[in-house]
Amino acid sequence: MTKPTTLHEFSPGLADVPAARSSISYVDGQAGLLEYRGIRIAEMAAHSTFLETSFLLLFGHLPTPDELHRFSQDISHHRRIKYRITDLIKCLPEQGHPMDALQAAVAALGMYYPARQVLDPEIQYWSVVRLIAKVPTIIAAYHRLRRGDHEIHPRDDVYHASNFLYMLTEKVPHPSLAKALDTCLILHAEHTMNASTFSGMVTASTLADPYSVVASALGTLKGPLHGGATEEVVHMLEEIGSRERVRTYLEKRLAAKHKLMGFGHRIYKVKDPRAIILQKVARGLAEDCGASTLLDLAEEVERVGEELLRDKGIHPNVDFYSGALYKTMGIDPDFFTTIFAMARVSGWLAHWLEQIKDNKLFRPDQIYEGPHGRAYVPIDRRVRGVE
Ligand code: CMC
Repeated sequence: MTKPTTLHEFSPGLADVPAARSSISYVDGQAGLLEYRGIRIAEMAAHSTFLETSFLLLFGHLPTPDELHRFSQDISHHRRIKYRITDLIKCLPEQGHPMDALQAAVAALGMYYPARQVLDPEIQYWSVVRLIAKVPTIIAAYHRLRRGDHEIHPRDDVYHASNFLYMLTEKVPHPSLAKALDTCLILHAEHTMNASTFSGMVTASTLADPYSVVASALGTLKGPLHGGATEEVVHMLEEIGSRERVRTYLEKRLAAKHKLMGFGHRIYKVKDPRAIILQKVARGLAEDCGASTLLDLAEEVERVGEELLRDKGIHPNVDFYSGALYKTMGIDPDFFTTIFAMARVSGWLAHWLEQIKDNKLFRPDQIYEGPHGRAYVPIDRRVRGVE
């Protein structure tokens, strides 16, 4: 006898269905409020750094100077990747997507640092340190190697965001560029139960190692409805080309039932608070670098897009202004989502730590809608559409 299925109310995309109890971050989508461990995102962006933010997300409190010093030192001492990981990256096709390269390299990293004892606090700490430290090195290595350039080894004496830009260009960046990137990392570090975090938590709930958790989350982040939108926004802006074409382009796109990339959010019904900060950062950087054309265009798209979509509660999200910023930093557009990943690795790992502390295997139900009791028809008697 099969057990009858209980029909719970089905919510497509699990909208409004809580999947965990968490104290890592909080969003109020009507008020446009985001907090990390209770601290507003605008405060974090104004006063914190990415490594301090990561510490807060992972361990629940703002670090003391000693705690932050040790955490930062541990990260800067674990930035190098094994030459075999570099060799693996060299073997990947140069026209492949950087998120796939990152996912492959992170999965391979786990083979060098076995972390099956996920409840061991030492394993937890060093896995977190290694992942936060090495993900930027992998991204920068693929950015250079696929162009035929040598990879640049990380520097221990340079801060996280500066070191990443250094590994891309072999130059320690201007402080305003490094600060802008660091702010982007703070803003992308965590965002409650989004698709990639959920994906990572499902993997975590099987007690798989943290490298597999991050590899799962990376595959999910890549999609254009999630982190992949950053790259799509810039393609959309390039397709529009000039401010004069904005209205016609948007009207045509919406009439064809295509979405505006970088607009809309499952939770926010007002402009994403991260987009507000990113727009200001992008404006500041564009003025410093004298490169505001893409940003001017993005702001015009926001103005017209808001006019066309406001009634549906659709406004710019975090991905809308990040592309313009990364472009000013000289990062290739197909790498934009990897920058998101470089930040979100801290949020994913914070959820990993929270999940395994009180773990229950994710094993949801489904509402079966297929037939029952069908006969097995031997292959020589099957006729398509008749059986
Ligand atoms: N442009 C035009 N219409 C939109 C958009 C958009 N960007 N987003 C939602 N809509 C419309 C959609 O067509 C639908 O209209 P109708 O009810 O008439 O059929 C309605 O709004 C509801 O849309 P939905 O896709 O069912 O809603 P959702 O909660 O699943 O959407 C979303 C969330 C992020 C998938 C969606 O807004 C979207 O596809 N946006 C574009 C991609 C994007 O920017 N993604 C980044 C999301 S934020 C950061 C991140 O997660 O990485």
